[in-house]
Amino acid sequence: MINTVHIPILVEPIIDALLAPLRALSEEADPQWLVDCTLGGGGHTAALLAALASDPKLRRHKLLSIDRDPSAIARAAERFETELSAGRLEIVHSPFGSAADLVRSRPVAGLMADLGFSSDQMNDPARGFSFQTEGPLDMRLDPSRGQSAREFLSRIPERELEEVLSKYGEERFSRRIAGAIVEHRRKHGPPSTTRELSDVVVRAVPPNMRHGRIHAATRTFQAIRIAVNEELEELDCLLKRVILGVKPGGRVAILSFHSLEDRMVKHAFRSAPFKPLHKKPIEADDEEVRRNPRARSAKLRIAERQPDESAGEPNGGAS
Ligand SMILES: C[S@@+](CC[C@H](N)C(=O)[O-])C[C@H]1O[C@@H](n2cnc3c(N)ncnc32)[C@H](O)[C@@H]1O
Repeated sequence: MINTVHIPILVEPIIDALLAPLRALSEEADPQWLVDCTLGGGGHTAALLAALASDPKLRRHKLLSIDRDPSAIARAAERFETELSAGRLEIVHSPFGSAADLVRSRPVAGLMADLGFSSDQMNDPARGFSFQTEGPLDMRLDPSRGQSAREFLSRIPERELEEVLSKYGEERFSRRIAGAIVEHRRKHGPPSTTRELSDVVVRAVPPNMRHGRIHAATRTFQAIRIAVNEELEELDCLLKRVILGVKPGGRVAILSFHSLEDRMVKHAFRSAPFKPLHKKPIEADDEEVRRNPRARSAKLRIAERQPDESAGEPNGGAS
């Protein structure tokens, strides 16, 4: 068994939100699906499966879990062997931005996404996500396709790199860092390892900013990861196409970790046919942040798909 170290965030409010439309169904209603768009270490998937299994009225419903990372898929195939063979769970290797057909092809009463990357990906030096361990400068969520961070840095013009660092990393020294990376590329080639990139960034920021509470390379690594994986484009497809496959009365829950992502989710959830369940995003309490510091920046938004007026389904039609 390949273990996960990822700790799922805000599990309870997500489970409560996604199960509510299923609880509202009559016992004769056909089985429905929930979708976890970001399987990762399987934390939310396991909690959803347990919640479905623990209630005799919900046992017939099923879960589809998606991830673009082949390692997450392989780990889950082992961990959830029983549920897979019982047909209670289906696992698909895909970017969620391309999952519109998968969602549309079944009655989906709830969908969730826990954006970004997992602690399992972060802690594996071979994946190149962390400036704290030496590894190849890769950063792809799916290493089987697309360009690595090194390839990305080998081609990108300086002005564009500056924009990426500023927009996706909210890095105030974006110009100095972009200049230093391009200068390094000219003299030595693009950085090949996490340490090499981290050293270039640390040298580029003012000396008094080099040893702050947050590592000087944090924002640069975040920005490059978002760009390499086209994370905002993926989220845009999820919000504009994929969640439209959720049935009227169904729920969508999205956990984000970046202000740009949260803004996109907030906007989508305020647009028809969705309506937000809460005015403000749900955040982790102090106890959860103590147990799991990663929860500190998490923002959870939940929306309900409104009844389809033209279809005349007065009770939301999630049956
Ligand atoms: C924060 S982790 C999810 C953790 C999971 N909820 C758990 O509790 O174990 C995010 C996961 O989403 C996956 N991911 C990120 N963007 C994706 C995308 N566009 N399509 C599919 N999977 C994606 C990553 O590969 C990663 O495994």
